[in-house]
Amino acid sequence: MHLTETISSDRRSILKGLAAAAVTSLAAPATTATAMAATAMAADGLPAQPTGAAAAIATDNAYWTAVKGLYAVTPEIVNLENGFWGIMAEPVRREFIRQSDMVNYQNSYYARQRAGADFEAVRIKVAQAVGAAPEEIALTRGATEALQLLIGGYNKLKPGDSVLYTDLDYDSMQYAMNALKGRRGVDVVKFDVPEPATRQSVLDAYGRALEANPKTRLLLLTHVSHRTGLVMPVAEIARMAKAKGVDIILDAAHSWGQMDFRVGELGVDFVGFNLHKWIGAPVGVGFLYIRKDRLADIDRDMGDEDFAQDDIRSRVHTGTVNFATVLTVPAAVALHQQIGAAAKQARLRYLRDYWVSRARDFKDIEILTPDEPGLYGALTSFRLAGKTSKADNDATVAKLRDGHKILTVRRAGVAKGQCIRVTPALYNDESDLDRFVEALAVITGTKTG
Ligand SMILES: Cc1ncc(COP(=O)(O)O)c(C=O)c1O
Repeated sequence: MHLTETISSDRRSILKGLAAAAVTSLAAPATTATAMAATAMAADGLPAQPTGAAAAIATDNAYWTAVKGLYAVTPEIVNLENGFWGIMAEPVRREFIRQSDMVNYQNSYYARQRAGADFEAVRIKVAQAVGAAPEEIALTRGATEALQLLIGGYNKLKPGDSVLYTDLDYDSMQYAMNALKGRRGVDVVKFDVPEPATRQSVLDAYGRALEANPKTRLLLLTHVSHRTGLVMPVAEIARMAKAKGVDIILDAAHSWGQMDFRVGELGVDFVGFNLHKWIGAPVGVGFLYIRKDRLADIDRDMGDEDFAQDDIRSRVHTGTVNFATVLTVPAAVALHQQIGAAAKQARLRYLRDYWVSRARDFKDIEILTPDEPGLYGALTSFRLAGKTSKADNDATVAKLRDGHKILTVRRAGVAKGQCIRVTPALYNDESDLDRFVEALAVITGTKTG
């Protein structure tokens, strides 16, 4: 079925306007100027950002209905598994198609003549948006690539040093930290984040781990846990680590775009970001950040010889990438800014609160993610009391999916047992969450109303 056949006539008319704005001639050269012009027009039809207190912004129905209208999504399922990657909004998707057509049409004529300058423009745009200097940013194919390069390239470790990470860090990054034992001769120490967590208990756990491992030189920290959605008090942990001469590599795969911040506020020198989760760029793009005066502490990628030692681009040597993916980043960033980073954060927290506040007291439900302000965003995980195995949680995910047409995902690796992650996105609304809460009531045998 064609995509637009699945959407309501209201949304169809918004999308028609957006599409007209975004589509240009197939042969139109996508110079940076034309790419930016298309970007500027990307979401004509979206009302001005709401203003006022976060609660008022988050519940401005007219605004969020218009935002929802930017997304064409399958009606087959209520998707509350938006932590994998972010669906492109229609203006971004159309820009991606336009850029794909252009690159395919022009082939190496484009790539050899103009891609270099266009990629530079993208890097500058991303740097401005995240609050960094362009020399502090290098584009990657995602957060995994960015973080592997930072962890593998960090050259200040010597045999006998320790490196730390926790149960909540992302698997691939745990693997990269484990690999440091063989590569650098360090001791790899893993500890558990408390559950339930409070700001203080998290800070205490990091404090204790640093205290107990005085040879620690490097700490892997995840801004938003993909397992439970816990948002780490990064700046406080960074202060604590810095006081002990410990560097942090921050996994910000899930945070920027879901949460409103600039990189300088975090107090960390090495960060890996995604652009294809909460910024809504096409799949296959992210970036790494290295604070300007720390570049020498990360090695060149496989001894890159294309860029100078003092050029951060020598820290990433990817090979041929999907040009259209990178060229679409400005459109995604522009839409993110047009919807509003603070407004997105407020809306996503509101959607999370909407279901958690109704389900928290249900029979046998454990919500793993605390309500404490600043410790959560869109993602929150739960488990049914005592149900900690893979099979238990797969069964609940299957009941939600097959019995109630709601998509969630099982997450493993949490010290106290497996769980189910629930992640609304901007195209979800209260009706989706009402359906989810009703499903939870049925599954747990909780009487409501
Ligand atoms: C916390 C965290 N780190 C890293 C990644 C890896 O991101 P990607 O697969 O997009 O490179 C993810 C992906 O879900 C994540 O949640």
